[in-house]
Amino acid sequence: MNALAEVQTGIHDVSGDWTFRTADTKQVTHGIHAYPAMMIPQIAQRLVRTYGREGAFLFDPYCGSGTTLLEGMLAGTQAAGTDLNPLARLIARVKTTPISLAALDRAVRKFPCMASRIDFPIPDVPNMDFWFSPKSQRDLAAIRYHIDGMADSRIADVFRVAFSLAVRKASWTRKSEFKLYRMSERQRERHNPEPFSFMLKSLAEIRHALQSLNRNVSSKVPLPVVHDFNTVSGIPTEIAPIDLVVTSPPYGDSRTTVAYGQFCRLSSQWLGYTKASRVDAMLMGGKKIPTLPAFGIRKLDRVIAKIADVHECRAREVASFFVDYRASIRNVARLMALGGYACYVVGNRTVKGQTVPTGEATASFFEENGFEKIGVGYREIPNKRMPSVNSPSNVPGDTGQTMKTEQIVICRKV
Ligand SMILES: C[S@@+](CC[C@H](N)C(=O)[O-])C[C@H]1O[C@@H](n2cnc3c(N)ncnc32)[C@H](O)[C@@H]1O
Repeated sequence: MNALAEVQTGIHDVSGDWTFRTADTKQVTHGIHAYPAMMIPQIAQRLVRTYGREGAFLFDPYCGSGTTLLEGMLAGTQAAGTDLNPLARLIARVKTTPISLAALDRAVRKFPCMASRIDFPIPDVPNMDFWFSPKSQRDLAAIRYHIDGMADSRIADVFRVAFSLAVRKASWTRKSEFKLYRMSERQRERHNPEPFSFMLKSLAEIRHALQSLNRNVSSKVPLPVVHDFNTVSGIPTEIAPIDLVVTSPPYGDSRTTVAYGQFCRLSSQWLGYTKASRVDAMLMGGKKIPTLPAFGIRKLDRVIAKIADVHECRAREVASFFVDYRASIRNVARLMALGGYACYVVGNRTVKGQTVPTGEATASFFEENGFEKIGVGYREIPNKRMPSVNSPSNVPGDTGQTMKTEQIVICRKV
């Protein structure tokens, strides 16, 4: 076998351990803020290092909290991503922006360690009294006011990430859930958060992470750009040509799978992000189509038909996601360079007892656009980044099985 053939065999071999059961997933800035269904950094790292090359341009069409962007940056690759969720974009930006630690330290020294007697304006957060005690409202309003007055936007963004954590901590939402559920009365009585000291603790942790970022990235690598366009509607041509895509799309529509917007809603509202309560409706599959389409992919059409036999509306929800997903893949595919690799980490979820073939659909949608599937890797989901049961009907206690494995689908433009 000649050297080229050997290299190609290596590249096309996607077997091996993708589970990374004992891996540290919080290295560098990866752990500064939780986000639902985050990608394991080691997966992004392996894909970027295997399918990237010097001078390649990396794109993540659903970048979430920026795992791929950070791994691209650490590998010395120019990267860009987009996400419709403003809190995700904030986290992604802070994760991938080296800053002056001296400037951060100065800002932390100026941060008040307790609330003053002044009452600061309380932002307009819907159902404020349902989610926050009067003391939490006063403390958070004072912190937000302080952050709004900061002159250095990069340092202010670091504080905003800590503030988002403080909002979640101070709220009466149950911390173990992705969706918003209020604590019981007993839990609320015992809940006694201290947002000021929590901010200081979080800022110290984020500082530590940013120190590691400063140490690990070369100043020659351009900062990743975090956009806010909808990949279903279209991708600006200045993003092209894309050499490599490493991404983890949503598992389905946000209402019945992972509620990204709901997880971020209270923080986003406190941060003043407009449309914070509408994020989930804007994401893929957020708008239900009126009739069932045929995708021309036998397995997908069969599964949707079987779901429709028992629940037509659920079938349309599933189909709505795939209509958007197909459009999004077409937009990505168009802007990719010949020979470029698309690496999608996807999960086959279960709806009404039917396993939805998202992995196969992903490969087929790329094949429709001039790609060839070169391999599929498999990984078990070993930890709690994704609940293994969900509440498909949104009725508490009514749970169904979601997926326990993910597929890494790799296609190449030919
Ligand atoms: C599985 S998450 C990505 C997680 C990311 N890999 C990480 O490690 O944080 C999927 C993301 O897709 C975003 N999304 C869904 N529909 C989108 C669309 N049409 N355009 C852009 N982003 C979208 C969601 O907001 C969510 O952040």
